[in-house]
Amino acid sequence: MLVAIDGPAGAGKSTVARALARELGWDYLNSGAMYRSVALAALERGGGTLPEQPGALGELARAVEIEFADAPGDASSGASGGASPEASPRVLLDGRDVSREIFTPEVSEAASRVAADPGVREALVAKQRGLFAEGDWVAEGRDIGTVVAPDAAVKVFLTADATERARRRAVELGADEATVLADQLMRDERDRTRTHSPLRASPGAITLDTTGLSVQEVVERIAALVRAEAAADPGWASGS
Ligand code: DC
Repeated sequence: MLVAIDGPAGAGKSTVARALARELGWDYLNSGAMYRSVALAALERGGGTLPEQPGALGELARAVEIEFADAPGDASSGASGGASPEASPRVLLDGRDVSREIFTPEVSEAASRVAADPGVREALVAKQRGLFAEGDWVAEGRDIGTVVAPDAAVKVFLTADATERARRRAVELGADEATVLADQLMRDERDRTRTHSPLRASPGAITLDTTGLSVQEVVERIAALVRAEAAADPGWASGS
């Protein structure tokens, strides 16, 4: 079974998805960490700039190996990614731990450009579907419910006030709130208006505004949806 959680930056996706996966005992995937990893790889190879040749980013996305590992002392789920430098799961790019590097402002900016590249999207969607082929997953991103897994058992679109989202991200990153808000609005706009897999709620997704809600409240609401779905599908059993 798969729970797809999509929405703009700072809506609480990573925190909620991780907590939900832990509660259900399922695997967790932060697909944004994959786009960030490709962006980091591209910046490193290009000496700080992204390649301009058509197809180069897609080729790179196909070539790199992105893996996830539990942080020391974290016995929770398997494949996962981090919402912030403090997030427990580690992100490995060609075997190197890049969990911190992928959250710099430069990589965030580059990731939103890289995510607009159709070749990159195709490569990462294939990697994500490969992961989902086995086991039970809570996956978060921008297009999990619309493109990667439109048949997901539960689809949630998380939102929150833009200022609330910026405040949360600023606290996570230890950054200035006004700067985070400006950067976030720009990246949200790019994610929403891109031609390929723009950010939007999937048909059938439940939209949940997390402004003013605690993480536990949001997790409980989604867990209730999962329980209802499992109860409605007698053929489903956890771990099958
Ligand atoms: O969730 P995040 O902020 O770490 O994502 C980084 C960038 O990748 C962001 O610009 C949105 C993009 N992204 C995407 O296009 N599709 C996804 N499934 C996940 C992230």
